[in-house]
Amino acid sequence: MPVHGVNLLATDNEVSGISTDLLVIGAWQEGEGIRFETGKNVLTASHTKFLEEAAKQVGFTAKEGTTSRVSSPKKFSVDYVLLVGLGKESLEASPDINPADWRHEKLRRGAGVALRSAHDASTVTLVFPVDSEMAIEAVATGAVLGAYDYTEYRTQDENPRDTGRKGRVRKERKTCDITIVTEKTKTSAKSAKAAVARAESIASAVWRTRDLVNMPPRDLYPESFAQAMVKQAKNRKVKVTVFDEKYLTDNGFGGILGVGQGSQRGPRLVKLEYSPFRAKKHLALVGKGITFDSGGLSLKPANSMDTMKMDMAGAASVAQALFAIADLGLSLKVTAWLPLAENMPGGRAGRPGDVLTIYGGKTVEVTNTDAEGRLVLADALVAAQEDNPDMLIDVATLTGAQIIALGSRVCGVMGKHQARNDVILAAGTSGENMWPMPFPEEIRDQFESTVADLTNAGGREGGMLAAGIFLNEFIDSHTEWAHIDIAGPAFNEKAPWGYTPKAGTGASVRTLINVASAMTHNQ
Ligand code: BES
Ligand code: MN
Ligand code: ZN
Repeated sequence: MPVHGVNLLATDNEVSGISTDLLVIGAWQEGEGIRFETGKNVLTASHTKFLEEAAKQVGFTAKEGTTSRVSSPKKFSVDYVLLVGLGKESLEASPDINPADWRHEKLRRGAGVALRSAHDASTVTLVFPVDSEMAIEAVATGAVLGAYDYTEYRTQDENPRDTGRKGRVRKERKTCDITIVTEKTKTSAKSAKAAVARAESIASAVWRTRDLVNMPPRDLYPESFAQAMVKQAKNRKVKVTVFDEKYLTDNGFGGILGVGQGSQRGPRLVKLEYSPFRAKKHLALVGKGITFDSGGLSLKPANSMDTMKMDMAGAASVAQALFAIADLGLSLKVTAWLPLAENMPGGRAGRPGDVLTIYGGKTVEVTNTDAEGRLVLADALVAAQEDNPDMLIDVATLTGAQIIALGSRVCGVMGKHQARNDVILAAGTSGENMWPMPFPEEIRDQFESTVADLTNAGGREGGMLAAGIFLNEFIDSHTEWAHIDIAGPAFNEKAPWGYTPKAGTGASVRTLINVASAMTHNQ
């Protein structure tokens, strides 16, 4: 299934004979020099010698993220090639990462950089050091992710010479064929095809997550989000149930209702189910789905609010991970719970001091209406555990403290020892940066309430850990549970890099798919 106009292919034809709009060659940075992959149908020793010389002349050092256009070796079908720096293959700067994971991530990033530089090319061919099926998958994934562009709300003149108001049309996403050159002696055509197909499903899920995160909150609100899920599930083996306000009221989902009550547009809870016939294990996912977080009556300052359309990134991620798992046909039961609400300070908004009853009966005194994510998650976590899943993972743009602690590219992972470590391992193979975080006992005291079982917000110290500790209050002792705080990584406010664009990134989707795939291998 092509990803929104991007078509992925693999070939083991001779590189020199390939005609394409843009031929990209990846190079490792090694010592003072650079290194290319050579092989039967890839580059010959004389090709690489020529390219090394050409690189030297333009000062290309293969530093990660750099590119340089040089003329191609003699007898190539194309006039020039784009060199892409993959950086150092060794781990000097990041000794905490598994070497194979690191290498694959460098390939993903390099391919992403290539596609971000490809602009007008409608056929791009990548010659990267792909020695295995995993490496092909990495290059293919990075390439498609780098080709991402959000054009939904852009227009262009129908006739480029028109300047007036007439004749503007919605801009279409550009279409592009991406071909990965594989080496005959290292991987079979069959395994290359399988790798490319996997990359397509995985990258597609990340694209769709980015689309949802980038969508303006005027158009994406609980009801429209739920509708989008119903639409996406059509013709797929995914069942969707939308619980409306009446159902939530009748069944005591006090967290979701309490957060959503300040908005004109009511909350929803969506349950997605993929339940293949032979599945033995069950993975449950929960994603924070605040379609806009104004903070509620504990209003955010204006400059903290301008990115808060992204506060549904957790819900988008878990939903798209489930759809990808279904597309891949993994033999695993997966459910995804999306508690959706808009956190607004309308006349009916919840007040600081209000007490909410979470699904299942625990009471929470709301001391800060801006700590809303944990309230909607609590309802959904309790509901998800009624099915007794083998593993439960929630994903949330939960705390600003995550960004203070780990920066904008590293997710914090908390939870039960085993589940937390499983997530960290899966993150490693996906190339996503996630790090284990503790639950210090003393932080629990922050949530002592004078009127209810607990409050929803404590002090500033250890804010990311505190949020995790709050969620843990709603987790049964036997549930294998992990919590991923993606507050920073979900939305890139800085310049694009590697395969990561500005704005919505799709953080955590690939890790969740990897967790699922590991569970199918161990059942
Ligand atoms: N959605 C925010 C967290 C957030 C902040 C995500 C910045 C992405 C970027 C969350 O609902 C929130 O407001 N958290 C508060 C919690 C506090 C009131 C205990 C925070 O982090 O300040
Ligand atoms: Mn908030
Ligand atoms: Zn929030």
